[in-house]
Amino acid sequence: MNLDQEISRRRTFAIISHPDAGKTTLTEKFLLFGGAIQTAGAVKSNKIKKSASSDFMEIERQRGISVTTSVMTFTYQNKQINILDTPGHKDFAEDTYRTLTAVDSVILVVDCVKGVEEQTEKLMQVCRMRNTPVIIFINKLDREGKDPFDLLDELEEKLSIRVRPLSWPISQGQTFQGVYNLYDQALHLFKPDKTKVNEEIIAVKDLYDPALKTWLQEKYIQKIQEDVELINGVYDTFNLEDYLSGSVAPVFFGSAVNNFGIRELLETFIRIAPAPEKRITEERPVNANEKKLTGFIFKIHANLDPNHRDRIAFLRICSGRFERNQFYYHPRLEKKIRFTSPASFIGNEKSIIEEAWPGDVIGLYDSGQFKIGDALTEGEVLHFKGIPSFSPEIFRELVNKDPFKTKQLEKGVRQLTDEGVAQLFLQQPGNRKIIGTVGELQFDVIRFRLEHEYGASCDFQPLRFIKACWIKSEDSKALEEFIRLRYAQIAWDKEERPVYFAESEWGLQNIRQASPKIEFLFTSEG
Ligand code: G4P
Repeated sequence: MNLDQEISRRRTFAIISHPDAGKTTLTEKFLLFGGAIQTAGAVKSNKIKKSASSDFMEIERQRGISVTTSVMTFTYQNKQINILDTPGHKDFAEDTYRTLTAVDSVILVVDCVKGVEEQTEKLMQVCRMRNTPVIIFINKLDREGKDPFDLLDELEEKLSIRVRPLSWPISQGQTFQGVYNLYDQALHLFKPDKTKVNEEIIAVKDLYDPALKTWLQEKYIQKIQEDVELINGVYDTFNLEDYLSGSVAPVFFGSAVNNFGIRELLETFIRIAPAPEKRITEERPVNANEKKLTGFIFKIHANLDPNHRDRIAFLRICSGRFERNQFYYHPRLEKKIRFTSPASFIGNEKSIIEEAWPGDVIGLYDSGQFKIGDALTEGEVLHFKGIPSFSPEIFRELVNKDPFKTKQLEKGVRQLTDEGVAQLFLQQPGNRKIIGTVGELQFDVIRFRLEHEYGASCDFQPLRFIKACWIKSEDSKALEEFIRLRYAQIAWDKEERPVYFAESEWGLQNIRQASPKIEFLFTSEG
């Protein structure tokens, strides 16, 4: 197959949700359909259920599981499906945000009982930053949930996206009958079954056809007729372009645990979801079908085996063909590197690959040469955009407990922050190290790993900051003056960009009003 054919058969996406909405279950059902696994229950949830520090080893173990489930690949109807896994726990949300930079589209799972939850909103914001196409799957229809029309309103309101239902539930919970597929005009009758697909599909071109009585009671027929009329009156017809540009999200209903609505979702997905397209870099757009290889690192995973310190850097291929044993150019280090054992992940198996194509994600053994966001090319200097750092929410000062191990501590902190475990800010004078994270768990992770992997010992002092904002200004004098006046709340990130630490939302609002020439950004990309 040539490059264009390889590209057009690839679908690289992530399934995302607020914890417990059904992401793991849906992923597993997709893998079952793709034949990548044989039985339900084979995909372990990488959810971290408890957050007490005594569970730290458990977290490490679970992180270990997520190395192999980081990318799951299977073939379905001759399409190569690459599902990028994202951690469920909110303390690892930044990991998820970064993974979203490596996908071409997303399936967002929403629990019909709970509706839009905190993480659903945050994840959607990240998708909207990049106009990622999103399909919404409303799950757990076998439960008494919210009214579907109310759910659609809630999605539009809280997620700031227009929605378009492509299937519609007939009743819900105990009396759930199935869904009517508005796209293909077919009735899917619900038969609960956790292990196999057991849905009866009947083509129904006309909802007023008397034959419908064979399958549904009169009251349900009447309801679906009314609902469909309302939907067609309220929502525009589905437009593929609007979905691909990220302005409309098609919505499906189903029950992942009962295998209901999954095949329909997967089949529509492979028809409408985008294949790898062009990617933006600071220098120029890179088209997927360019002959030369380009890609970027979006995730780095530490090896948990203390005897093998190598890490795995995950490369998303953006253009060209990747070949094993070839030399590729690392623009940040200005050197050529060869990879002898690049790995791919099929189901739960990791194996060495000879080649890979745009949309693929491969694991490269890394002895410390990679940072999140690094590019790999055939010689060109490129910086891929859209891999921002997000504003952390918890801040601690890192205190060295063993002055004889200062070097180890410095190295450890640098490497862990390169991996994206947390963000490091330096405050002057004295190079005071401020660690910013999105969750408490990261501090346990850092302390444990510094001790076990680098032999360094540290403590954390709480700080009163609640938010870090990158500050910018067209007027360099104004920026200098701002920094001079607020020295105690300024630090520099690893790229030496100035960052302002706010102590309260209220204080931040005041300072923004008082400093009209300063831009306050909540991601490092703005
Ligand atoms: P997550 O990855 O998004 O965090 O969610 P996960 O798939 O682990 O699902 C969370 C819980 O919701 C699981 O129950 C799962 O069985 C259940 N679930 C998923 N899909 C459906 C559905 O369509 N209907 C209903 N009623 N439940 C669903 P659990 O009790 O936490 O775990 P388990 O013991 O069932 O595995």
